[in-house]
Amino acid sequence: MYCKCSVIIVFIFVSVYNTNAKSNFDMVFTNCTCFSEDPEKMLSNLKCGLSKSVKRPSFNIELQFQKPVTRFFVNMRIVLPRRFGGDFTLFNLSGIDGCSLLSNKNQIAFIQLGRKHMDQFSNVPKRCPWPKDVPYYVRGFRSDMAAMPAFNFESDMNLWFDLVVNQHKLIRGFIQSRVQRRKSHKTGAGEDLSV
Ligand SMILES: *[C@@H]1O[C@H](CO)[C@@H](O)[C@H](O)[C@H]1NC(C)=O
Ligand SMILES: *[C@@H]1O[C@H](CO)[C@@H](O)[C@H](O)[C@H]1NC(C)=O
Repeated sequence: MYCKCSVIIVFIFVSVYNTNAKSNFDMVFTNCTCFSEDPEKMLSNLKCGLSKSVKRPSFNIELQFQKPVTRFFVNMRIVLPRRFGGDFTLFNLSGIDGCSLLSNKNQIAFIQLGRKHMDQFSNVPKRCPWPKDVPYYVRGFRSDMAAMPAFNFESDMNLWFDLVVNQHKLIRGFIQSRVQRRKSHKTGAGEDLSV
């Protein structure tokens, strides 16, 4: 129940503030690491890392299957680590049906938004099965901060995801990012910090 409520709250934030076209915040990625548990030899390639861009580092994921994936589940959680007090779990979803996620039939609006945004940076298929021997990627992902107005503060953000096939966490991924105030080219003197 807790996690569902968080998602709804985030979605309300998104809806209410979405009219603000511009954000003063950027998201830079600082770590992208994947692990795999592949006893059935499903994967023929898995690479996760950061891009070289110094200006705005992003993350890259490459993957390829050597067997078609007909059914899978996704777990996803986003945690904002805090120096004092407990870490804040923004959401923690498990057992999301992967096939409805691909075809964007997932019922959770927040997840739908994320899936649509992802299309600009990725060639993941639009439906199941996920064919074998095709190289898939997520590349140069940029967050649409205008659609994430809940983040009008600087924070680290840790995202964990699992891609579960036949009860195995075939891919376990960790993506670390930092939401930071956009560096202004104007002189700092008159800057409005109350955004
Ligand atoms: C990135 O995250 C992984 C997994 O938590 C960790 O093992 C690794 O040391 C991190 N790399 C850097 C450069 O922080
Ligand atoms: C997320 O949910 C899973 C299963 O529902 C639970 O085992 C895990 O402890 C939760 N993690 C966090 C950080 O809340």
